[in-house]
Amino acid sequence: MTVFIGLLGCGTVGSGVVELVERRADKIAEITGLRPVISKILVRDIDKPREGLVDSSKLTTNAHDILDDKEIDLVIETIGGIEPAREYILSALRSGKHVVTANKDLIALHGVEILETAERHQVDVLYEAAVGGAIPLIRPLKDSLASSDITDLKGIINGTTNYILSKMTQSSISFETALAEAQRLGYAESDPTSDVEGLDAARKLTILASIAFTSTVQLSDVRVQGIRKITASDVRFADQLGYVIKLLAVGTDREGRLSLEVRPSLVPKTHPLAHVSESYNALYIRGDASGDLMFFGQGAGSLPTASAVVGDVIEALRNLQLGVSGHSQHVYANHKPAVPSRDFLPY
Ligand code: NDP
Ligand code: HSE
Repeated sequence: MTVFIGLLGCGTVGSGVVELVERRADKIAEITGLRPVISKILVRDIDKPREGLVDSSKLTTNAHDILDDKEIDLVIETIGGIEPAREYILSALRSGKHVVTANKDLIALHGVEILETAERHQVDVLYEAAVGGAIPLIRPLKDSLASSDITDLKGIINGTTNYILSKMTQSSISFETALAEAQRLGYAESDPTSDVEGLDAARKLTILASIAFTSTVQLSDVRVQGIRKITASDVRFADQLGYVIKLLAVGTDREGRLSLEVRPSLVPKTHPLAHVSESYNALYIRGDASGDLMFFGQGAGSLPTASAVVGDVIEALRNLQLGVSGHSQHVYANHKPAVPSRDFLPY
């Protein structure tokens, strides 16, 4: 049986999704018993030249062509930002369509509203791609690691800033040149201010901490400092002293009191995080039963992010086939207080 998919947005991530769904359709049909077909694609500018496998006959600039199409059972959102992405996702969920999104801005700010709407309408909303690009983080935290009390999250969860800092360290190129390169490679947000100011990492930490610490964490709970003020001399002096500068995201839960911070940090060259370079991400997770775990992989870019999106599509199709859609949501009733950390010891 075929499942028709509507794709909202076809930029860096969306075009990777088109390529991967096409490439993996047979395999996905074998795994789930359902064949995914992207039947319509929403874009802003229909005349924009598009490379690769994007079939121009599927393009539309009218969201209702997708949201009102009764044949479409699943919507993938890769537009980004808050509106109109929020309105489109809520409308899809209310019409009984499953949703997969890569949108961390939206999940960090409106996750509760979106998850509750999905639950009410018994459909899935999945967002593995919102944090860590290709690295599976959301599902392990929700499922396998739910057997532990998670106490610590520490890592590099923004590819753009890691790329900039790596290039400033390894190639001595300027902040601006490295940022332009990260934009060309499709790592940066459409407004890269959220990357360099640490907001993208803070949104991701909000999402991770909500699940890991089973609390309705708010973005305002996270103390944020970006890398805008890091200069070439800072990088050089750190290097001479045996350190590298990394933008770390750190979350801890100490007996129900959370501490959540994103900030540039000196990491000793001997530490594994010092070797996470370019657009790679890495996250340490400590749980009382699991002990220490480290996740590492490509944190941004077209196909790596598409791999997480398509992984969620497979999960949604499997749930659809088993008739268990709408049971994967996690909204936590309690809000653990966030307190400034007394000592920021990132490693
Ligand atoms: P892009 O800017 O490359 O693509 C955005 C797409 O959405 C474009 O196709 C654009 O149309 C379309 N679009 C934007 N606004 C509208 C609108 N109002 N109506 C209709 N279509 C619209 O973004 P990315 O692919 O980089 O990012 C997409 C999402 O994925 C974001 O939420 C981002 O945070 C997230 N993400 C990105 C990663 C990355 O590495 N880039 C990694 C992980 C998550 P048009 O093509 O006509 O301009
Ligand atoms: N702009 C983001 C980053 C994309 O650089 O990490 C991946 O979420």
